[in-house]
Amino acid sequence: METKFEFPYDFIDKVIISQEDIQKRVRDLGNLIANDYKDSEKLLLLGLLRGSVVFITDLMMHVSRPMTMDFMSVSSYSGSESSGFVRIDSDHKTNIRGWDVILIDDIVDSGYTLKTVSKLLIDRQPRSLKLCALLDKPERHKVDIHIDYLGFTIPDYFVVGYGLDIDEKGRNLPYIASVNLKKYHGG
Ligand code: IMP
Ligand code: MG
Repeated sequence: METKFEFPYDFIDKVIISQEDIQKRVRDLGNLIANDYKDSEKLLLLGLLRGSVVFITDLMMHVSRPMTMDFMSVSSYSGSESSGFVRIDSDHKTNIRGWDVILIDDIVDSGYTLKTVSKLLIDRQPRSLKLCALLDKPERHKVDIHIDYLGFTIPDYFVVGYGLDIDEKGRNLPYIASVNLKKYHGG
């Protein structure tokens, strides 16, 4: 008998990146990072809470080099729109001076978050700073930004899953799914 697959949230449209495709890409990114930083003695994966948690924990297990992990918490969003103003809610603990830092977020939308945080980090004099994101929506960029380690480029959808949320919902999905914003807002 065939069982119909049901999404655990009623506002989901469709799966746009499968669990399997995510796992493959994350493994490749981890291997790439391990190779690029093979001469580094101070590699720090610095994740932005809370969206990057699932990504960073999977990613780091493919970085088979000495490394450490830290987090910052920033906010600029309410619901599905960026306010353009990025606030630091909690800072990283590591003194990053002299470290090779990879700043990691779940998704790039306007680009304000990664741009603002990377400017702040550069003032703290890391040995190097690179940017990493699981997803990028280039159509939405409002600033010029280059992501050194990118998982996937996606169209202008609002997405949840694999750590990404809408108002804290949807983080537990093991795939990336698009949100029906009309349905979500009760339309
Ligand atoms: P930016 O500052 O506009 O680039 O926005 C990046 C932040 O917005 C990310 O850290 C996400 O938390 C959030 N964000 C942007 N687009 C989405 C999305 O489609 N789903 C979930 N969160 C998103
Ligand atoms: Mg976020």
